[in-house]
Amino acid sequence: MDIAFDLLLIVHFVAFAVGITTTIAMPMLMGVMPRLQPEARAVVGGLAPRFARNARLAFLALIASGVGLTVLRYGGVEAMDIWFWVKMALVVVVAGAILVQMLAPGRLDPRLMSWVTRLAMLGIVISAVLAFH
Ligand code: HEM
Repeated sequence: MDIAFDLLLIVHFVAFAVGITTTIAMPMLMGVMPRLQPEARAVVGGLAPRFARNARLAFLALIASGVGLTVLRYGGVEAMDIWFWVKMALVVVVAGAILVQMLAPGRLDPRLMSWVTRLAMLGIVISAVLAFH
Protein backbone atom coordinates (compact mmCIF):
# COMPACT_ATOMS: atom_id res chain seq x y z
CA MET A 1 0.00 0.00 0.00
CA ASP A 2 2.75 2.44 1.02
CA ILE A 3 4.87 1.45 -1.96
CA ALA A 4 1.91 1.96 -4.29
CA PHE A 5 1.30 5.38 -2.75
CA ASP A 6 4.97 6.35 -3.05
CA LEU A 7 5.09 5.23 -6.69
CA LEU A 8 1.98 7.24 -7.51
CA LEU A 9 3.41 10.29 -5.74
CA ILE A 10 6.58 9.96 -7.85
CA VAL A 11 4.42 9.79 -11.00
CA HIS A 12 2.47 12.82 -9.72
CA PHE A 13 5.65 14.87 -9.20
CA VAL A 14 7.30 13.81 -12.48
CA ALA A 15 4.11 14.63 -14.39
CA PHE A 16 3.95 17.96 -12.59
CA ALA A 17 7.55 18.70 -13.63
CA VAL A 18 6.78 17.91 -17.28
CA GLY A 19 3.55 19.92 -17.21
CA ILE A 20 4.97 23.01 -15.53
CA THR A 21 8.02 23.03 -17.83
CA THR A 22 5.74 23.27 -20.84
CA THR A 23 3.49 25.82 -19.15
CA ILE A 24 6.48 28.14 -18.67
CA ALA A 25 8.57 27.37 -21.77
CA MET A 26 5.85 27.41 -24.48
CA PRO A 27 4.87 31.08 -24.12
CA MET A 28 8.59 32.00 -24.13
CA LEU A 29 9.19 30.07 -27.35
CA MET A 30 6.09 31.57 -28.98
CA GLY A 31 7.24 35.02 -27.85
CA VAL A 32 10.59 34.81 -29.69
CA MET A 33 9.11 33.22 -32.84
CA PRO A 34 8.39 36.49 -34.69
CA ARG A 35 12.04 37.60 -34.25
CA LEU A 36 13.56 34.39 -35.67
CA GLN A 37 14.86 33.77 -39.18
CA PRO A 38 12.58 31.42 -41.21
CA GLU A 39 14.88 28.41 -40.70
CA ALA A 40 15.08 28.84 -36.95
CA ARG A 41 11.34 29.53 -36.85
CA ALA A 42 10.67 26.17 -38.51
CA VAL A 43 12.85 24.38 -35.94
CA VAL A 44 11.32 26.12 -32.92
CA GLY A 45 7.82 25.86 -34.39
CA GLY A 46 8.34 22.11 -34.79
CA LEU A 47 8.90 21.82 -31.05
CA ALA A 48 5.51 23.28 -30.15
CA PRO A 49 3.36 20.21 -30.97
CA ARG A 50 5.78 17.97 -29.03
CA PHE A 51 5.60 20.25 -26.01
CA ALA A 52 1.81 20.35 -26.26
CA ARG A 53 1.56 16.53 -26.50
CA ASN A 54 3.87 16.05 -23.51
CA ALA A 55 1.85 18.53 -21.47
CA ARG A 56 -1.43 16.76 -22.28
CA LEU A 57 0.01 13.37 -21.33
CA ALA A 58 1.42 14.89 -18.14
CA PHE A 59 -2.00 16.33 -17.30
CA LEU A 60 -3.66 12.93 -17.77
CA ALA A 61 -0.97 11.33 -15.59
CA LEU A 62 -1.56 13.99 -12.90
CA ILE A 63 -5.28 13.22 -12.83
CA ALA A 64 -4.82 9.42 -12.85
CA SER A 65 -2.12 9.47 -10.15
CA GLY A 66 -4.06 12.10 -8.16
CA VAL A 67 -7.15 9.88 -8.07
CA GLY A 68 -4.98 6.94 -6.93
CA LEU A 69 -3.31 9.03 -4.19
CA THR A 70 -6.70 10.25 -2.97
CA VAL A 71 -8.12 6.74 -2.75
CA LEU A 72 -5.02 5.12 -1.22
CA ARG A 73 -4.27 7.67 1.51
CA TYR A 74 -7.59 9.38 2.15
CA GLY A 75 -10.05 6.65 1.21
CA GLY A 76 -11.92 9.07 -1.06
CA VAL A 77 -12.89 12.72 -0.92
CA GLU A 78 -15.16 12.81 2.14
CA ALA A 79 -12.46 14.02 4.54
CA MET A 80 -10.97 16.59 2.15
CA ASP A 81 -11.01 20.26 3.15
CA ILE A 82 -11.86 23.34 1.10
CA TRP A 83 -8.32 23.61 -0.33
CA PHE A 84 -8.67 20.23 -2.00
CA TRP A 85 -11.81 21.51 -3.76
CA VAL A 86 -10.08 24.77 -4.70
CA LYS A 87 -7.37 22.61 -6.26
CA MET A 88 -9.96 20.52 -8.15
CA ALA A 89 -11.69 23.67 -9.45
CA LEU A 90 -8.35 24.93 -10.77
CA VAL A 91 -7.66 21.52 -12.36
CA VAL A 92 -10.97 21.99 -14.23
CA VAL A 93 -9.76 25.45 -15.36
CA VAL A 94 -6.55 23.91 -16.78
CA ALA A 95 -8.57 21.12 -18.43
CA GLY A 96 -10.79 23.77 -20.02
CA ALA A 97 -7.77 25.69 -21.32
CA ILE A 98 -6.29 22.50 -22.82
CA LEU A 99 -9.61 21.60 -24.47
CA VAL A 100 -10.02 25.08 -25.96
CA GLN A 101 -6.49 24.91 -27.39
CA MET A 102 -7.16 21.45 -28.83
CA LEU A 103 -10.63 22.06 -30.26
CA ALA A 104 -10.38 25.70 -31.31
CA PRO A 105 -6.69 26.60 -31.57
CA GLY A 106 -6.07 30.35 -31.79
CA ARG A 107 -9.76 31.16 -31.13
CA LEU A 108 -8.92 32.82 -27.81
CA ASP A 109 -5.87 35.07 -27.37
CA PRO A 110 -2.93 32.65 -26.76
CA ARG A 111 -1.34 35.12 -24.32
CA LEU A 112 -4.52 35.20 -22.26
CA MET A 113 -4.71 31.40 -22.35
CA SER A 114 -1.12 30.99 -21.21
CA TRP A 115 -1.66 33.40 -18.30
CA VAL A 116 -4.83 31.55 -17.28
CA THR A 117 -2.91 28.25 -17.34
CA ARG A 118 0.14 29.60 -15.49
CA LEU A 119 -1.92 31.26 -12.74
CA ALA A 120 -4.13 28.17 -12.40
CA MET A 121 -1.03 25.94 -12.06
CA LEU A 122 0.37 28.27 -9.39
CA GLY A 123 -2.97 28.15 -7.58
CA ILE A 124 -2.97 24.35 -7.81
CA VAL A 125 0.44 24.13 -6.12
CA ILE A 126 -0.59 26.57 -3.37
CA SER A 127 -3.90 24.81 -2.71
CA ALA A 128 -2.19 21.36 -2.83
CA VAL A 129 0.25 22.44 -0.10
CA LEU A 130 -2.56 23.97 1.98
CA ALA A 131 -4.73 20.85 1.49
CA PHE A 132 -2.15 18.23 2.35
CA HIS A 133 0.21 19.84 4.90
C1 HEM B 1 -2.76 19.87 -12.87
C2 HEM B 1 -3.07 18.92 -12.00
C3 HEM B 1 -2.36 18.72 -10.67
C4 HEM B 1 -1.22 19.31 -10.18
C5 HEM B 1 -0.33 20.37 -10.83
C6 HEM B 1 -0.99 18.74 -8.86
C7 HEM B 1 0.06 19.10 -8.03
C8 HEM B 1 0.31 18.53 -6.79
C9 HEM B 1 1.40 18.89 -5.93
C10 HEM B 1 2.45 19.97 -6.22
C11 HEM B 1 1.29 18.12 -4.81
C12 HEM B 1 2.23 18.12 -3.59
C13 HEM B 1 1.58 18.86 -2.45
C14 HEM B 1 2.24 18.57 -1.14
O1 HEM B 1 2.80 17.49 -0.95
O2 HEM B 1 2.18 19.47 -0.28
C15 HEM B 1 0.15 17.26 -4.97
C16 HEM B 1 -0.26 16.33 -4.06
C17 HEM B 1 -1.43 15.61 -4.16
N1 HEM B 1 -2.34 15.63 -5.21
FE1 HEM B 1 -2.14 16.71 -6.91
N2 HEM B 1 -1.98 17.82 -8.59
C18 HEM B 1 -2.84 17.78 -9.67
C19 HEM B 1 -3.97 17.02 -9.81
C20 HEM B 1 -4.50 16.23 -8.81
C21 HEM B 1 -5.78 15.56 -8.88
C22 HEM B 1 -6.75 15.63 -10.07
C23 HEM B 1 -5.94 14.89 -7.69
C24 HEM B 1 -7.07 14.03 -7.19
C25 HEM B 1 -8.11 13.64 -7.89
C26 HEM B 1 -4.75 15.11 -6.88
C27 HEM B 1 -4.51 14.58 -5.65
C28 HEM B 1 -3.39 14.80 -4.88
C29 HEM B 1 -3.16 14.22 -3.58
C30 HEM B 1 -4.10 13.26 -2.85
C31 HEM B 1 -1.92 14.73 -3.13
C32 HEM B 1 -1.27 14.53 -1.74
C33 HEM B 1 -0.55 13.28 -1.54
C34 HEM B 1 -0.01 13.29 -0.13
O3 HEM B 1 -0.82 13.11 0.81
O4 HEM B 1 1.20 13.51 0.04
N3 HEM B 1 -3.91 15.95 -7.61
N4 HEM B 1 -0.44 17.52 -6.19
